[in-house]
Amino acid sequence: MKRRTTEALAADASARDVDAYLRAQERKDLLRILTCGSVDDGKSTLIGRLLYDSQLILEDQLAALEDDSRRVGTVKGGTDFALLVDGLQAEREQGITIDVAYRYFATARRKFIVADAPGHEQYTRNMASGASHADLAVLLVDARAGVVTQTRRHSYIVSLLGIRDVLLAVNKMDLVDYDQAVFERVATDYDSFCRQLGIDSVTSIPVSALKGDNVVARSDSMAWYRGPALLPYLESVEIRREADASPFRMPVQWVNRSGPDFRGYCGTIAGGVLRPGDEVVVLPVNRTGRVRRIVTYEGELERAVAGQAIALEFEEQLDVSRGDLLAAADSPAEVTDQFQARLIWMSDHDLMPERQYLLKIGCHTVAAAVTELKYRVNVNTLEHVAAKTLSLNEVGVCNLALDRPIAYDPYAQNHTTGGFLLIDRFSNETVGAGMIDFGLRRATNLTWQDIDLDKVARAGLKGQRPCVLWFTGLSGSGKSTLANLVERKLHAMGRHTYLLDGDNVRHGLNKDLGFTEPDRVENIRRVAETARLFVDAGMIVVASFISPFRSERLMARELMEEGEFVEIFVDAPLTVCEQRDAKGLYAKARQGAIKNFTGIDSPYEPPDDAEIHILNDRSPPEEGADRVVAFLKERGYV
Ligand code: ADX
Repeated sequence: MKRRTTEALAADASARDVDAYLRAQERKDLLRILTCGSVDDGKSTLIGRLLYDSQLILEDQLAALEDDSRRVGTVKGGTDFALLVDGLQAEREQGITIDVAYRYFATARRKFIVADAPGHEQYTRNMASGASHADLAVLLVDARAGVVTQTRRHSYIVSLLGIRDVLLAVNKMDLVDYDQAVFERVATDYDSFCRQLGIDSVTSIPVSALKGDNVVARSDSMAWYRGPALLPYLESVEIRREADASPFRMPVQWVNRSGPDFRGYCGTIAGGVLRPGDEVVVLPVNRTGRVRRIVTYEGELERAVAGQAIALEFEEQLDVSRGDLLAAADSPAEVTDQFQARLIWMSDHDLMPERQYLLKIGCHTVAAAVTELKYRVNVNTLEHVAAKTLSLNEVGVCNLALDRPIAYDPYAQNHTTGGFLLIDRFSNETVGAGMIDFGLRRATNLTWQDIDLDKVARAGLKGQRPCVLWFTGLSGSGKSTLANLVERKLHAMGRHTYLLDGDNVRHGLNKDLGFTEPDRVENIRRVAETARLFVDAGMIVVASFISPFRSERLMARELMEEGEFVEIFVDAPLTVCEQRDAKGLYAKARQGAIKNFTGIDSPYEPPDDAEIHILNDRSPPEEGADRVVAFLKERGYV
């Protein structure tokens, strides 16, 4: 019986098991460990041994655990565990394949969760998934090899994720004759590397996972070693959590209006302590209120701490919505719409600076773009490398701009309010994980100047409704010809128009841009902003750009007001465009003389919801142009 239970506890946890286990436990006794290293270093052996030896667990503790597990769902005290579970759930929701095994075990003194990320090359994102809530990292090295590139890489990620305590297990001591000098050399080497990283607490222990030396108990083979064995160390190491030291923080997950008089703001406390009577500020709107009650399923609390899921009631009627951050009024979080962050790229598709992604921080989702990639970090050497993009598993330091202000803390102060995910708007794939360093400018310092005349007034003079006619399609599909014709027709009708054309704009405003994907993103961003100014001036803008990516066409659409963006897909098969080849560019692209040519070695993502779809290989341009004008008349634009 004892054995079965222990095995069940130690087995790789399915997410549901973890949930249940976590809810049932007390928070203070839990150490969350990230293991780094490879099978070659003896990682599996070590984990196996820890799990096996945890069978030393006392009968009465087991009974308590079982008892706790039975009370799953009713015990609300084990809330710090919810942090980890929330993390997992967020990742699951965001479709991150977590290539991380979670195992849990307990000893008489403490409970442990081990997140074990594979140590191979493509590890970064797995580590990032497994590590975001870890208290301590156990790094394994082979005593014979010492500190190797992989050790440095893992340590860098560990420091990046804000794990401050590292245990270096110098393994396979049996293979170096339990030689003290070997151990000392590796430990000293590693210490000096960690100093560069700002990891402030490193403990090195010589072990042999295979033989069990210094794993559970001190080994006679290494009498020269005076420190603790690995498990006793893990059982007694002090847990330092930023969230405990942080001022009160809680992202609002939902608003509970279960009674006419009850309005509870629900969420998990991400930092600090809360008591009835405390003054709390709602960010980013910056309104304060006083806490009347803290409610949980067990009843009211006089004190709630980081990790607990609560509902909070204010004395005042306050307007609070999902995504807002509640913070201690005397120590509020900062508010900004631009910040510097470190970003771990997790997608097979490279980062596109200036592309709009969704940024999820706490319970809040906003649109965001990387406005500047300052450098990439070579995670093996810590060198800063100039870069235009980030690929899978790469890490960079960048500036981000959001479409609206958010409340945040630097990641170093609070992992929940300072950590974020970047999500692709079309695939909903999580493409990056970020850690905020600092805000770049207080959003409140910059306001939108109201101008008395608006575009309605300006357009009114011309008797037209301003809009953008956005022609998209392959090179040679006939966009420019059509755009020209449409502009001439509108002009003849007395409309005030302006034509923006790819080839022309690239001679001036965008002459610094080429045809790489990031350059095209920037090209469309600038053109869209320009089009917006012209629309604001009351004009009908005719824009003709390949604009090959859905994301940027959506970005252009969203820059305009509802109904102002008319997307026109000029659809001609690649073979037809290539046959026409008026500029001779396809021929050159085929010869390899032009790189990144749309349709040849650069993608075109056709629209599936364009307002107008013109099959431009079937009909004369005149007909297509008439269709556009007819559309504008029908919809009351002209
Ligand atoms: S976009 O992709 O960034 O929207 P844009 O419409 O501004 O492109 O410019 C496309 C024009 O640039 C084409 O009509 C073609 O004449 C020229 N051109 C030169 N090199 C390329 C290339 N590699 N791919 C596509 N067009 C190119």
